[in-house]
Amino acid sequence: MSNLKLGVMISGRGSNLQALIDACADPGFPAEIVVVISNKADAYGLERARMAGIKAVSFSQKKHSSKEAYEQSIDAELRDMGVELVCLAGYMRILGSDFVKGWIDHMINIHPSLLPAYKGLNTHKRALEDGCRFTGCTVHYVVPDLDSGPIISQAAIPISMDDTNETLADKVLPYEHKLYPYAVKLIAEKRINLINNVVHIKGYEDPINGVINPAV
Ligand code: GAR
Repeated sequence: MSNLKLGVMISGRGSNLQALIDACADPGFPAEIVVVISNKADAYGLERARMAGIKAVSFSQKKHSSKEAYEQSIDAELRDMGVELVCLAGYMRILGSDFVKGWIDHMINIHPSLLPAYKGLNTHKRALEDGCRFTGCTVHYVVPDLDSGPIISQAAIPISMDDTNETLADKVLPYEHKLYPYAVKLIAEKRINLINNVVHIKGYEDPINGVINPAV
């Protein structure tokens, strides 16, 4: 079976992109990144892609007449490169519903909270302010409503009394790096069934704590 072709969209540092690059470097991994797209020309993730020999391009909305035109250019690049799955990896702009509808069931996102809690920005700060005892991260399908699509995989991480926004972000990030390649693998291996907007996974093994959901 040929590798699933990924297009990764970023806005900055690109550590989740790096986790995907590293996973794809394993010859047994069933996906490959064919293009990385950033909305910021100075995103370090573009460097990471180029260092790995992956096409890396930036698109500026300012150079387009509208948000729709800007997203149509991104869409065209993804389709030209034969992308089969779009991975949002710290892409910090809200995508328009036309773009999202064009990739429905073929676009996923990683979000630094236990969705459906804390959609949007400043997730760690808000979890701390609410006195939560756990936070986490989620990989989910992208739908037009922000951070609301079917959940593929999640990790729950305990919050300590002395955690700050920064320490929590540092604690969660390594879990993101495990979760994202695992979600891509599940999709590439066609182990996901979407029934009534709920993800059912064949042979789900929690990538972090061991097997929590034996084969369904
Ligand atoms: C990650 O923590 C990711 O979950 C978050 O941005 C960070 C990007 O880091 N994404 C969102 O908040 C999306 N709403 P990275 O550039 O090092 O991967």
